[in-house]
Amino acid sequence: MKNYTHINDIDNINSWIEEAREIKANPLANFELGKNKTLGLLFFNSSLRTRLSTQKAALNLGMNPIVMNVSGDAWGIEFGDGTVMNGNTAEHIKEAAAVVSQYCDVIAVRAFPTLTDKVKDESEQVLNSFAKFASVPIVNMESATSHPLQGLTDAITIAENTTKKKPKVVLSWAPHIKALPHAVGNSFVQAMQKMDVDFVIANPEGYNLNSQITKDTPIYHNQKEAFKNADFIYAKNWSSYEDYGKVLKTDLDWMITNKKIGNAKFMHCLPVRRNVVVADEVLDGENSLVIEQANNRTYAAQLVLKKILEDL
Ligand code: CP
Repeated sequence: MKNYTHINDIDNINSWIEEAREIKANPLANFELGKNKTLGLLFFNSSLRTRLSTQKAALNLGMNPIVMNVSGDAWGIEFGDGTVMNGNTAEHIKEAAAVVSQYCDVIAVRAFPTLTDKVKDESEQVLNSFAKFASVPIVNMESATSHPLQGLTDAITIAENTTKKKPKVVLSWAPHIKALPHAVGNSFVQAMQKMDVDFVIANPEGYNLNSQITKDTPIYHNQKEAFKNADFIYAKNWSSYEDYGKVLKTDLDWMITNKKIGNAKFMHCLPVRRNVVVADEVLDGENSLVIEQANNRTYAAQLVLKKILEDL
């Protein structure tokens, strides 16, 4: 595999899940594969799980990870083509990506959306510019519109925890005080569309995700109706896509509670705001899979890096 930038880079999700579970059972089995290879992790935005689990994955493969907080620590990067660089940016992506490629065998990038400029966000300017101007493979650690390492993790976690051949999975919007990206929701939708699950989305009116991503996945505006007979409930906030980047609703009537989820397993990518997105009782209860999900971030990243290393 050359790059991992999107859930569509997964050719067969069932075989990927199987391989990730093998890696989880024996994480150091491929320790020689990444020997003398360097993974550069470039963060334009904050992270706890992605930053640590991707480094852990690299270490399990014998790679040397190096990390940079690009915003603040690096020179301001210019992405425009032909720009007269007499403003705040000091280095063009053409040089920056080419230079990082001299030091790293694989480059992983995190760059969130503006949530104010839909066209710019959907152009995936940062991620695509690295893919264009770097001479080494690129891994998406959450871009403007997708978080495929998280989506793969979530697929692994559902496969590990299901007791049914075709479980019912619900992606539910949940409240938040801030405008959040659509990336996690988008990649979860795309991962579930590749799996043999009965998948529906629940969100208030005005919060439908991009219809080019949701396609024919059923969307409920009644959370109670959507949750009926659910085996997995995955909560996530996202800002409005239709009224781009706006927060239209902050009251807590869509917060996840024990009464709402019943016997379903609860999932969230984390970080999560307790008693806003989800009640303490759910996160502290036995049906919560959030820590197991966070653990699986390592094995999803390790599988992706392994596939890239095998093709170097
Ligand atoms: N879920 C996730 O990507 O977590 P971080 O933002 O902490 O990396």
